[in-house]
Amino acid sequence: MGVSRHPYSSSLPSWANVPIDATAVARLRASFNAFSADGSRLASIFYAKLFERYPGVRTLFPADIRAQEVKLMDSLKAVVEHAEADPKLIEALKALGVRHVKYGAKPEHYPIVCDLLIESMADAAGPAWSVRLAAEWRRALEIVSRIMLAGAASHESSTH
Ligand code: HEM
Repeated sequence: MGVSRHPYSSSLPSWANVPIDATAVARLRASFNAFSADGSRLASIFYAKLFERYPGVRTLFPADIRAQEVKLMDSLKAVVEHAEADPKLIEALKALGVRHVKYGAKPEHYPIVCDLLIESMADAAGPAWSVRLAAEWRRALEIVSRIMLAGAASHESSTH
């Protein structure tokens, strides 16, 4: 008898099991360094796409988006610098998730933000982009989102 596939395995996205091991972290760091060589260009591509496709969210953000662009770059930097499950990073991401409840971020917004970030990274990286980098960034952002949402959920349950 042949080995059957788990019925749910085919519904898992291809990046779901991409390991964020030491070599992946090294590639994410190099990729981030290349983005930050252009200042906050990546973040500015991202917000331009976000506000063009979802004009309704513009009012959630400050009128002057430049400071926000720097904050987004700083948070990506913290993620790649402390990617080895640093407890301080996890606490900081949980607190970031708690602040996002007040900003109006809903769990269903996170995949949209991750998709747009990956798309912006592909634009910003040009020929340096690869299928492997896309999968590793996606997996890293999925982990970040999950930690932020866990922080938000535990805060909600402790205040209600
Ligand atoms: C990968 C996920 C995300 C990361 C890493 C991230 C990162 C950040 C950072 C670093 C800030 C600066 C303010 C602070 O530190 O508290 C911020 C602000 C903000 N984020 Fe996010 N974010 C994420 C997802 C989202 C989502 C899903 C939304 C949904 C709409 C969102 C909406 C906002 C808004 C509206 C602000 C501006 C708050 C203000 O200054 O008034 N973010 N984000």
